[in-house]
Amino acid sequence: MTTAINVLGIETSCDETSAAVVRDGREILSNVVASQIDIHEAFGGVVPEVASRQHVLAMIPTIRRALAQAGVDWGDIACVAPTCGPGLIGALLVGLNAGKGIAFARHLPLVGINHLEGHIYANWLTGAVIDFPTVCLIVSGAHSDLVLMTGHNTYRVLGRTLDDAAGEAFDKVARILGLGYPGGPAIQKLAAQGDPSKLRLPRAWLEGTYDFSFSGLKTAVLRVAEGMDDQPGLTRADVAASFQESVADVLVTKTKRAAEEFGVRQVLLAGGVAANALLRSEMDRQIGRPVIYPPISLCTDNAAMIAAAGFYRFEAGFRSDFSLDAKANLPLA
Ligand code: KG4
Ligand code: ZN
Repeated sequence: MTTAINVLGIETSCDETSAAVVRDGREILSNVVASQIDIHEAFGGVVPEVASRQHVLAMIPTIRRALAQAGVDWGDIACVAPTCGPGLIGALLVGLNAGKGIAFARHLPLVGINHLEGHIYANWLTGAVIDFPTVCLIVSGAHSDLVLMTGHNTYRVLGRTLDDAAGEAFDKVARILGLGYPGGPAIQKLAAQGDPSKLRLPRAWLEGTYDFSFSGLKTAVLRVAEGMDDQPGLTRADVAASFQESVADVLVTKTKRAAEEFGVRQVLLAGGVAANALLRSEMDRQIGRPVIYPPISLCTDNAAMIAAAGFYRFEAGFRSDFSLDAKANLPLA
């Protein structure tokens, strides 16, 4: 009989303090997320120093709750996997140092995880069978990367955003339209009442590459919003719907092209923007092969996805030592 491998994942790269216990990389025993969204909402976005201080307060109670909810003790944990980048440096340091402290005190192996790798591995928590090679679109508040995976923990970045990330564009456009933070869910809600065909917004195709650009689209929305009074038939909901359609159009078209070029069996979606209903339905409709995406709770930041990635790294023999440092711009590949 083989014994189960329980990984303790720790995530503090942005504004969620999270700890989770995942068994064998696929079964969530607990996934505690202490969100700071209410605190940052008042500022219209994440304030890094406020986030770091909040992580310090929430970290240890969150880890304790993760163990209790999983019904496990320290002796049942095989490995500690904290996020070590990319993200807000002060925020990252809290979770990484908590992980190092636990690894030292409990004599446990330490495996530092790239936050983007965590987003990708949320797909392994869905129960879906995933074959290599596979293409993964990671769209979050800070990243828009199209990645080819040829095996576990093996990445080739095919393209990335040259300016704003897709989630950042959602957040900025939400602000332009007078909506709250985070912008993605607010835009999706407003767009449901709008008609995207009333306004054609630009798409940056960047032909011949898998790169993205969303800053021109954001500027176009700003121009339209400033001139709204001159267009009586156009509502904020129409603008939100048209914006959402423009983002989804580019993301789906480029992902489909990559899936065809590399002959992959399925496509994975990851990151906060993968929670978007239009993006999901257009991917399902257009990609022409299975599209796997995590449930919404695993699309946004959480430690279960970090623990899942930690399991596959642990299995492959990766180990971090105590010199591991947090890196705000840690690359994936
Ligand atoms: O992955 P995530 O939780 O944090 C980062 O690692 O950045 O992503 C957060 C981003 C925010 O920009 C938020 O507006 C966006 O994901 N988001 C959405 C939706 N839900 C969250 N964007 C579009 N539609 C949504 N339903
Ligand atoms: Zn994230």
